[in-house]
Amino acid sequence: MLSIDASAGAFLAALAERSLDFTQYVNVFTGSQNGGNDFPGVVRPFGMVKLGPDLLVPGTDSYSGYLPNGNFSGFSLMHEQGTGGAPKYGTVSQLPVVGVVPDPLSNLTVGRAVADQASVGYYKAQTTDNVTVELAASEHAGMYQYTFPKGVLGNILVDVSHVLPSFRGQGLGQNYEGGQIEVFPDGHYEGYGTYDNGWNRAPDWNIYFCGHFDTAPVSNKTYSGSDASGSVEQASGSASSDAGVTRVGSLFTFNSHQVVSRVGISWISTAQACQNVQNEIPPGTDLQSVVEDTKANWNNKVLSKITTTNTNETSLTLLYTSLYFMHLIPTNQTGENPGWTSNEPYWEDIFTFWDLFRCSTALMQVLQPDVYEEQIRSLIDIWRHEGYMPDARSSNYNGRTQGGSNADNILADAYVKGVRGAVDWQDGYRAMLKDAEVTPPNTNPDPMAPDSSTKEGRGALPDWKSLGYITPRFTRAVTRAVEYSCNDFGLYQVASSLGIQTDSEKYLNRSRNWRNHWNPNQQSLGFSGFVVPRDSNGFIDTDPLTDSGYWGDPYYEASSWAYSWASVHDMKHMIDLMGGPETVVNRLETMFTPGAGGGTGIIFDSTNEPMFNIPYLYNYVNRQDLSVLRSRNVAKTYNTGVAGLPGNSDAGAMQTWLLWNIIGLYPITGQTTFLIHSPWFESLTIDLGSGKTLKITSTGGDGNGDSSFYVQSLKVNGKTWNRNWLTWDDVFARGGTLEFVLGDAPAEWATGDLPPSPAS
Ligand SMILES: *[C@@H]1O[C@H](CO)[C@@H](O)[C@H](O)[C@H]1NC(C)=O
Ligand SMILES: *[C@@H]1O[C@H](CO)[C@@H](O)[C@H](O)[C@H]1NC(C)=O
Ligand SMILES: *[C@@H]1O[C@H](CO)[C@@H](O)[C@H](O)[C@H]1NC(C)=O
Ligand SMILES: *[C@@H]1O[C@H](CO)[C@@H](O)[C@H](O)[C@H]1NC(C)=O
Ligand SMILES: *[C@@H]1O[C@H](CO)[C@@H](O)[C@H](O)[C@H]1NC(C)=O
Ligand SMILES: *[C@@H]1O[C@H](CO)[C@@H](O)[C@H](O)[C@H]1NC(C)=O
Ligand SMILES: *[C@@H]1O[C@H](CO)[C@@H](O)[C@H](O)[C@H]1NC(C)=O
Repeated sequence: MLSIDASAGAFLAALAERSLDFTQYVNVFTGSQNGGNDFPGVVRPFGMVKLGPDLLVPGTDSYSGYLPNGNFSGFSLMHEQGTGGAPKYGTVSQLPVVGVVPDPLSNLTVGRAVADQASVGYYKAQTTDNVTVELAASEHAGMYQYTFPKGVLGNILVDVSHVLPSFRGQGLGQNYEGGQIEVFPDGHYEGYGTYDNGWNRAPDWNIYFCGHFDTAPVSNKTYSGSDASGSVEQASGSASSDAGVTRVGSLFTFNSHQVVSRVGISWISTAQACQNVQNEIPPGTDLQSVVEDTKANWNNKVLSKITTTNTNETSLTLLYTSLYFMHLIPTNQTGENPGWTSNEPYWEDIFTFWDLFRCSTALMQVLQPDVYEEQIRSLIDIWRHEGYMPDARSSNYNGRTQGGSNADNILADAYVKGVRGAVDWQDGYRAMLKDAEVTPPNTNPDPMAPDSSTKEGRGALPDWKSLGYITPRFTRAVTRAVEYSCNDFGLYQVASSLGIQTDSEKYLNRSRNWRNHWNPNQQSLGFSGFVVPRDSNGFIDTDPLTDSGYWGDPYYEASSWAYSWASVHDMKHMIDLMGGPETVVNRLETMFTPGAGGGTGIIFDSTNEPMFNIPYLYNYVNRQDLSVLRSRNVAKTYNTGVAGLPGNSDAGAMQTWLLWNIIGLYPITGQTTFLIHSPWFESLTIDLGSGKTLKITSTGGDGNGDSSFYVQSLKVNGKTWNRNWLTWDDVFARGGTLEFVLGDAPAEWATGDLPPSPAS
């Protein structure tokens, strides 16, 4: 009896366990190809260590380390998530090599025998030498388990000079600038490497490491060298190259079938790196236990935040994989700040707010209120110690700013939605004022945009402040003007809430200056009125269909068809300028019409963030049904495959856009407004923390958002709702319910006020 009960109990427990293991719905290879650049390696939520393979295909930039083809150049502990531009990190690596290694410091690679396999917290690769590499990670340390073929001498190469290279020729390649490694009598190694550059054009930064092998090597050799000299063995067991860029590294040789290595990293010191690995992955730790801990972390801290009654494997995989990829960066680097000492949290790897401010940071607040408060405090502390908040930041260095100073929008969003806690909002507002008033010095001009600083702040402030528009003497003038308008709206929001009346009026005025770039006579496809370049002589002609550019151009990574919609805080005025609601509907529809962009082209481009809001803007002209239709068509181009993302993930920005579509709301950053469209599932519950939940149900749909997705009616917190938007207070501040009735044709349910346009 007893034994039967016990086993039945164990069976039920296992069953419960399995159903709570949301990691089974995460495909870590989703979006890892076709430019998605998702990082498929091992990582805890926001973990400093992101351990994964680095693949080398000469001529191809590998942004997350992973490529589906090529040879392994290493398995390194540091990566970014889903970024583009130029690779960053790929630092602190090991590479298993079989046989005699005559010249270890010569960019060795080993071939890949079979496709890599991975799941949350676990990664497995096999080299053409028949070495199996298995990986696991904690927050600040990584674990390698190598299985060598029996009867061969296996080596582990630690090449301190290893980074992810860039072949694009933009001057943004990372460089190894020196380092040190020392093998201690007990066989562990310590050291650091110095590197620079990468996408954010960072000056030298150091990362410290501390590696252990749980199996004794038969030999260890330490080398220094260069391409010219080859690798030169150092009898002392240590090598450093402080004086130059000589490469250093060590080769550990084993005659064991299995070799386990545990490596800690730190931004502070080798002692801290050793402490990190000792604390998190002590000697004798079993790889599987680290994997299980990682899965538990993902389940408890992230994946369980959204639950649904949906049982469709495809839908669940899209949901949980998207949730996963929005939680890799920023990195929680609290306690690991090499720049200054403070009691504030420290969050790093912001890559970038230009991507994240539009809808991602708003979801971070909803899902991770504690994390979010720490992130806001960290931004303010960066301003406190370095003078400016970042628009992007990695290796503890601000850069690069693509358009405006978008931390302003994020602080405004947090403020109006009630983020308080330990945030010092007086300082927060001072940090925003710095962005709005003080031109950042252009001490290290960006070759791709030398006119003004791309490090931080707003480089084109001199024109913005004196003229109220930005002349072509500044690159990305139109992009910056529309983004500075949104940034200034953020200052207005905070100033007016803090009761700073003169600032409030001033920044509200400035938030309307995007209008100064509005040329009512600029034509495209029969529509009049676009944001255009201008100088003191007036507007400059452009071709809104083809004027999308890059760093040196008036429009950054999107055309004036896109940027003309950017000023959502001033929508009512924009609608008037465009010629009224009917024209606006036609204009939006034109953006989704095949062929309108020339050839088979569609003007709307889901691969890049400036377009993120556009499918939802129909709500402002009382065509909520078209917001549902157009946004759903875009969302359904995502899939769970390796090419499942339309563009670079950009730190999870793409995934959060999809998550909002699944949820049925879309945030207007900087305001408490959420536009309502239509949820995918019959039931979805968001854990808002502190015991609060938002429960979203629907009837009449197909359950997966593929059809019958038009809203027929809606109840908010049990009461019939007739507006196509709601506010933070309605359903997030205290939790709430949304009950949708869906159907296969549009219905006239949204008869109430349109979403607010506070600057109009
Ligand atoms: C991988 O290495 C093999 C053998 O060294 C070489 O023949 C091959 O060209 C390499 N592949 C790539 C993509 O570099
Ligand atoms: C190794 O790679 C670096 C770039 O990452 C390159 O500068 C160097 O020339 C390469 N060395 C050899 C021997 O191929
Ligand atoms: C790898 O293993 C396969 C199958 O076990 C074997 O055929 C092959 O010769 C091995 N290759 C090497 C380089 O050891
Ligand atoms: C590392 O190599 C040195 C020099 O050959 C040797 O004295 C030392 O015992 C080795 N240490 C280990 C742990 O193998
Ligand atoms: C960030 O890391 C610090 C130090 O490890 C930790 O104390 C803190 O709880 C972390 N923050 C969150 C939100 O997990
Ligand atoms: C804001 O603009 C209005 C109208 O142009 C003007 O009268 C007012 O003085 C401005 N306020 C500030 C604080 O600049
Ligand atoms: C599961 O959802 C996908 C994606 O929405 C859909 O294509 C598929 O038909 C659904 N499968 C079932 C069995 O309903």
